[in-house]
Amino acid sequence: MINKLAINGGVPIVSDPQNWSTHDFDEDDIYAVSRVIRSGKIGKGEQIDAFQREYADRYGVKYGIAVNSGTSAIHTCVAALNPDPGDEIITTAWTSGGSIIGLLLQNCVPVFADIDDTMCLDPVDVETKITSRTKAILVVNLHGNIANVRELRKIADKYGIYLIEDCCQSHFSEDNGIIAGTLADISGFSFGGKHLSLGGGGMVLTNNTALWERAILFHDAALPRKNGPATGKPYANYFLAPNYKITDIMGALGRVQLKKVDEYVNNKIRSAKTIIDGLSDIKEITPQKVRPGVKHTYWNLKLTIDTDSLKCTAYEYAEALEAEGIIPSYGPYPLGIPELGPLYKHPFLTEPNLYGNSKFPLDYNREIPIDYTKVKNTYGERLMSGGITIPMQPSFSEEYIGQIIDANRKVVTAFK
Ligand SMILES: Cc1ncc(COP(=O)(O)O)c(C=O)c1O
Repeated sequence: MINKLAINGGVPIVSDPQNWSTHDFDEDDIYAVSRVIRSGKIGKGEQIDAFQREYADRYGVKYGIAVNSGTSAIHTCVAALNPDPGDEIITTAWTSGGSIIGLLLQNCVPVFADIDDTMCLDPVDVETKITSRTKAILVVNLHGNIANVRELRKIADKYGIYLIEDCCQSHFSEDNGIIAGTLADISGFSFGGKHLSLGGGGMVLTNNTALWERAILFHDAALPRKNGPATGKPYANYFLAPNYKITDIMGALGRVQLKKVDEYVNNKIRSAKTIIDGLSDIKEITPQKVRPGVKHTYWNLKLTIDTDSLKCTAYEYAEALEAEGIIPSYGPYPLGIPELGPLYKHPFLTEPNLYGNSKFPLDYNREIPIDYTKVKNTYGERLMSGGITIPMQPSFSEEYIGQIIDANRKVVTAFK
């Protein structure tokens, strides 16, 4: 029976699931990387300098700092603000742990505001969370969408606090001509399997010279390197900082990949739009809301399933889709690992086990320590409980895109 779900023994829509390549690594990448290796100067920094310059230029931003992951990019953004222990940073709970790990390592505390129908921070709720200890708003542009960053910029300016943009998933997304990452005081990007992928790595962008000075020192153990802000000072570590540098091998690869990134982005957008159009008559499926004038670059395609009408959970829906040969993930995880949901439910915050057996920094200078077990973002929990994620690859064939549509149609029909 053609309509019998594959998970129940029916014939799957995709008979030969493929490993779609994420990126076009080719002779030009091999040449660029091998040239660096042959030069014997893999840590010299010339390729890194050029990559930082070229990346920042693509965004029309003054400074770029290449780092070794998205997590370290966001950590560097936070550290650039030189916060005091216990300072609060308002952010979203629907994101990778990598958005807040650096914030906690810098002894700040995340304060979780709710999201709106874009699945990103709701500016109205953000404003209600501002206190005398708020240092910054950290907005995450989820899946390639853009939050209402203009409104968040206004709020940050009104209260004299910083705005950080986590663009790890939203390379080259735009809001009415403004590229994601350029409205914030400082922003961070990941190159670990994102639109621009180096198998790891990240970038920090800023127009603010004071923030750049602290950030570039921070990513390099606060050492006085040539042409850096501490040039000429005695060789010493000037403040507590890690080593988040990349090598020239990654810098060289990044420069070649940057030339190809538009094609990756355009392919993802085209595929996502075709799928959204193909599912538009199914009222039980709603794609992530995109505000007018926003260019979503679809690192992933997020769909909300009306689980009440379909009488299944989003996890069951995703399992059925996977059996049809479509590779969804549930939340940010592969299937088989049900996610815990918002970050405030994750053990590192609920137990908490941040620094040994202490509650630091959640109890620093506070009569009542922050208790994440009491946090609840009502709208976000309702919206995201029906969410399934289809990772988008730039190499998807038209046939596979059609199969994604057919498989969703089949699963909806079966669960109705
Ligand atoms: C929104 C967001 N922030 C931060 C990170 C951390 O990036 P990385 O895995 O490169 O450390 C990720 C990773 O996927 C992410 O999606």
